[in-house]
Amino acid sequence: MKQGKIDALLGIVFGDEGKGKVVDYFTPQYDVVARFAGGPNAGHTIIFDGKKFVLRSIPSGIFNDGTLNIIGNGCVIAPDLFYLEAKELENAGYKMKGRLHISKRAHLILPTHRALDRAYETLKGKNKIGTTGKGIGPAYSDKAARTGLRVGDILDNFEEKYNALKARHTRILDDLNYKYDIAEEEKTWLEGVAYMRTLDLTDTEIEINRYLNEGKKVLAEGAQGSLLDIDHGTYPMVSSSSTTCGGVCTGLGVAPNRIDQVFGIFKAYSTRVGSGPFPVELFDETGDKIREIGHEFGAVTGRNRRCGWLDLVALKYAAVVNGVTQLIMMKSDVLDIFPTLKVCVAYKKGNETTQDMPYDLNGWEPVYEDVKGWNCDLTNMRSEKEFPQELSDYIAYIEQYMGIPITIVSVGPDRTATIVRN
Ligand code: GDP
Ligand code: IMO
Ligand code: MG
Repeated sequence: MKQGKIDALLGIVFGDEGKGKVVDYFTPQYDVVARFAGGPNAGHTIIFDGKKFVLRSIPSGIFNDGTLNIIGNGCVIAPDLFYLEAKELENAGYKMKGRLHISKRAHLILPTHRALDRAYETLKGKNKIGTTGKGIGPAYSDKAARTGLRVGDILDNFEEKYNALKARHTRILDDLNYKYDIAEEEKTWLEGVAYMRTLDLTDTEIEINRYLNEGKKVLAEGAQGSLLDIDHGTYPMVSSSSTTCGGVCTGLGVAPNRIDQVFGIFKAYSTRVGSGPFPVELFDETGDKIREIGHEFGAVTGRNRRCGWLDLVALKYAAVVNGVTQLIMMKSDVLDIFPTLKVCVAYKKGNETTQDMPYDLNGWEPVYEDVKGWNCDLTNMRSEKEFPQELSDYIAYIEQYMGIPITIVSVGPDRTATIVRN
């Protein structure tokens, strides 16, 4: 019998590469779309038919009727935020029941996890990570410390388990002398828990493997980006989950030999939100222009995203760690107005130059090469034949450095502005 395969679509930089858009575009080709890591720190934007949705925990396959969506065991879920997100989708006509399965092994984010997130950030002062404040770090910490609560826990004697973990958090927060008030959010949170009980809470790893045995196709939707990965990112300025390809296996309960294509998605330039090293960051007018044209403001927090030129050193590192087989270049149209583009091809520090990602990025500066810009409007283009020569050259330049083909080029936020190359 033909075995099905999993393809993975992974952000390979600092997140916000456009994963939501491409997952939504790919969805009709898949039976299942599954999130394997992260939680409401993600904000995945999907635009079609003049409508815009920003998904946090729910997979971007939710808009296609025939596709089953899964929130896998590697994810963390905040019942209140999930409830709001699900209700908004239901009001727009996209039902959850029967179309979304949630792993009983996924971990819960409690209101006190969010208070802890805020408390730890406050304590760190100028060294703060700039988290999304969604309780991600504390929830994954409880998971690793074996003190967390899982989705399956809401089905049995939940109140006692919840109160015990809350009391534990309260002691820590009191010790830190951190003032907080979760009374209001706790109400919505418990409503969210009640709502979740009405949904399909399942053993998703068993399901996914069964689907694969039946020859079905699964798309794993990444969250965050490789440089925010707990192991491979710019630690400690990272998120707390495995956002790279290995996370697909642990976060969904599938073996590595099930993975087929690994799509590595990146923007034609770079962005980062939150603190942490970012060698290609531009502090000048060009950086401001990229932010303005690319609307580089966080989908979750509204914060300014830091902007810079494309960083091929970072991209290559991520491609290696993930085993990327195809590249997807997003937001090419944002570079329409620049006569010359810069591309980072190495890092330098004093007399030292490297093309390998250093252990600690601090102090490394980018070595740039200039590439001619296309200086024309890409947004209405719908086929590669219309590409200006300079864009084709930019693509070829990246492909040559990376040794991996760019198979999709995106020229606008809408679903239709997606060009598959032949
Ligand atoms: P994700 O977290 O990887 O799903 O990405 P986000 O949704 O946080 O950020 C990507 C942003 O870029 C969203 O506002 C998208 O609507 C927008 N976007 C996606 N692709 C393109 C593109 O090709 N061009 C432009 N101009 N915007 C795009
Ligand atoms: P998507 O899926 C961009 C960043 C935060 C912060 C760091 C840690 O939309 O690409 P956390 O709240 O996870 O503890 O924050 O990681 N971060 C993201 N940046 N896109 C994301 O998700 C992100 N999720 C977390 O800004 O620097
Ligand atoms: Mg995002």
